[in-house]
Amino acid sequence: MAETIPDLRSVPRARAYAELKEYSDAILDGVDDDVTGMATVAALVHHAFGHLWTGFYRVVVPGKLLRVGPYQGSLGCLDITFGRGVCGTAAAEEKTVIVPDVEKFPGHITCDARSRSEIVVPVFDRKGDLIAVFDVDSDRLDAFKADDQQGLERLVSWFATTKQ
Ligand code: SME
Repeated sequence: MAETIPDLRSVPRARAYAELKEYSDAILDGVDDDVTGMATVAALVHHAFGHLWTGFYRVVVPGKLLRVGPYQGSLGCLDITFGRGVCGTAAAEEKTVIVPDVEKFPGHITCDARSRSEIVVPVFDRKGDLIAVFDVDSDRLDAFKADDQQGLERLVSWFATTKQ
């Protein structure tokens, strides 16, 4: 397989995510391994949009602890407690959190000082249990909108459809 990742930076977001979803579904066709799925989705989203940091924090102790999983970018923090930072908040609430300016989010955890805005979406398995959160960071303020939320939530819906 010699796949290349499309550059979608100048493509309208809704269309860009539709293209990425089709692409990742094709690559992950027949795959039932969450780590493979996480690595693939992180690489696709990171390089298609040129983000600063893109990756997963996995639930290792339900309701309590997240641990870094497959990601692209500079070194990520290793462990995040539920309720702490943007990732821990999204995990505790099981809801997407968009932070237009990280300096205005109380308790934001700084892993890379260049991060200015971020979005974190919850990832569920087919039983509806939270298995991870997907964190995307930008070096630009206010980089994430409702179309990013919709596109990213759709991309990670793969984890709820894989495995019997
Ligand atoms: N900023 C995140 C921590 C993870 S890193 O940015 C990779 C947070 O506040 O949860």
